[in-house]
Order: sequence, then structure tokens, then C-alpha cells
Amino acid sequence: MLLEVRDLQVEFRTRDGVAHAVNGVSYRVDAGETLAVLGESGSGKSVTAQAVMGILDMPPGRITGGEILFQGQDLLRLKEEERRRIRGAGMAMIFQDALSALNPVISVGDQLGEMFVVHRGMSKKDARAKAVELMERVRIPAAAQRVRDYPHQFSGGMRQRIMIAMALALEPALVIADEPTTALDVTVQAQVMDLLAELQREYRMGLILITHDLGVVADVADRIAVMYAGKIVESAPVHDIYKAPAHPYTRGLLDSIPRLDQKGQELYAIKGLPPNLTDIPPGCSFHPRCPMAQDVCRTGEPPLYEVSEVRGSACHFWRECLHDRDQ
Ligand SMILES: Nc1ncnc2c1ncn2[C@@H]1O[C@H](COP(=O)(O)OP(=O)(O)OP(=O)(O)O)[C@@H](O)[C@H]1O
Ligand SMILES: [Mg+2]
Repeated sequence: MLLEVRDLQVEFRTRDGVAHAVNGVSYRVDAGETLAVLGESGSGKSVTAQAVMGILDMPPGRITGGEILFQGQDLLRLKEEERRRIRGAGMAMIFQDALSALNPVISVGDQLGEMFVVHRGMSKKDARAKAVELMERVRIPAAAQRVRDYPHQFSGGMRQRIMIAMALALEPALVIADEPTTALDVTVQAQVMDLLAELQREYRMGLILITHDLGVVADVADRIAVMYAGKIVESAPVHDIYKAPAHPYTRGLLDSIPRLDQKGQELYAIKGLPPNLTDIPPGCSFHPRCPMAQDVCRTGEPPLYEVSEVRGSACHFWRECLHDRDQ
């Protein structure tokens, strides 16, 4: 087991009260596996990832419970120094916005090379050669010349490739990609996603892919975890989810993917808005928006029911939900 998050809880103190951003999230990622984390804006995807990486804003954030086991070690019990070492070499993160993640006044070659100087004790010259090699790995044309260029001299897609190169430089066991292609044009999105998937297979790294876009995960993910209001509401192998969702929220997400065979039709959108995290509804937090909600959903909080050995759903009516799809 590469990573196991157990019952993680994170809250933020805000002017309006305590925002319960992560409310008992559990997930696991094996070596060589891709876990896609889906959910609307504000569902806690990034906060969970930041807690795993150890880059959560504290304060205002606070981890109030749970464990994060990375290669068997509970990261929440480590000293900051040990944490930093793991963050350097054991895990890495790819962000949406390369321009703000990269240093604007240092050439990309120096930024890439720095990783090898600091973590591998390489000479500047050797580190430069490694930087070029990495840029070639992520298919930046004319890497040997462009190694001296600054981030703003690259296109958005090329910059994202450089950030992928930075993340993979030390061959980490785990990579977290938080909306890695959201800021890019659609065609470039697909290229960058393909590259990431290819490198993931080659390096056999565990990958957590955070995305709004259920469309992209079908090809690249092994498992999906769907988050709503700081909880995992469904967790399953990708194919199971596409065949039939076991949670009405997952179904809502699936139905809102544009489909080529339904051109011109109005796109379905889940009605209503996610809850205010300082005041999450009792029972199932999705019940105010759920087309299947019954009385029990307003009062009884659903556990993550075992749908199968590899699948869980936090819906009292997961059976009905699965069945509905067949009609
Ligand atoms: N620095 C912060 N200060 C206060 N509250 C925060 C902070 N960061 C996150 N939150 C709270 O945590 C919630 C979850 O945020 P998170 O960034 O994890 O959402 P997300 O699922 O990644 O959404 P998105 O798809 O928009 O990136 C937010 O709605 C907000 O209430
Ligand atoms: Mg986010």
C-alpha cells in the first residue's frame, strides 16, 4: 500500500464560523494506480490533497482527525523536517496554474536542475544535463536550447509539461495532479493528459488525479472517488461507475458530461448548490438536491455501504440507484 488516508477531518476557522471542509475522508492508492477524485467546486478535493502533501494553510486550516499513511508511516506524526524530505523525493504535486507554481525569474533549466543539486548533490553541469533530459522526456521541442528560457516564454501547454517534469524529476512514488489541464485549451488538455498517463505507467507511480471532468477520467483512471461536502460518497473502479452509478450524486455528474451522440440537447445540471460548509444539512448532506431523497435521508447519515468488495456508496438507496440505470 502506497498511500492510505483514514477518516481525515479538516476544518477552517472563518468569520462565518467553522467550515467543515473534510469530514472523514478515507481513500487508498497503490503503486502504479491512478485514483481520480471528482466532485463539484468546494467539495474538499484540494484540501484533502494539501493535507496529504503537508502544504495545508494552517491556520486557518486545522487537521482535527484521521491518519495519512504513506508507505506505512503516519505523516501526521512526523516532524516537519522529515515531512519536507518526503515532500521532496517521495511525493510531488502538479498544480493547475504553472505560471504561479514556477519561479518567473529563474530559467526553467535552473529550476529543474535545482532539484538534482539539492536532493541528489549533483554538480550544476550534471544537473543541467538532467534538466535537458527531463524536458525531452516531456517532449518539449528543442529542449537543449530552451533550457535557458524563462517560464513566461513558454506556451501554457509547454509550461504544464515543465511542471510535470519538475514533479517527476526525483521519480516520486506518488504524484498528486490537481486539475492539471483545466487552464489549457481543449486540444492541449488531451495531449498533456496523455503524457501524464504515459509517464505514470512508465514510472509506475501512484497518481491522484483531481478533476471536475468525468469525461477525462474514463481513459486514465483505475478507480474513482466522488466527493461531496467533504465526504467520499462513492468509491469504485472506473468501469463500475460508468456502467451504473451507485449514488445519485455520481449519476448527476455522469449525466452532466457532454455526449457526442446527443449534440444540441441541453446539458443536464444537478439542481441547487453544494451546502454551506459551516452549516452542513443533517442526514445525507446531498438530500436537499437529491431526486431520490426520502425521509430517512433527512435524518439518518448514510455510512459508506459496501456495494461490492471493491465498491462503496454513501446512499441509503444505492440498490435502487444501481437498478434505475438499467431501465
Ligand atoms: N485557505 C482557506 N481558508 C478558508 N477556507 C478554506 C480555505 N481553503 C479551503 N477552504 C474551504 O474548504 C472548502 C473546500 O475547498 P477545496 O479547495 O478542497 O475544494 P475543491 O473541491 O478543491 O474545489 P475546486 O474544484 O473549486 O478546486 C472550500 O469551499 C472552503 O470552504
Ligand atoms: Mg481544488
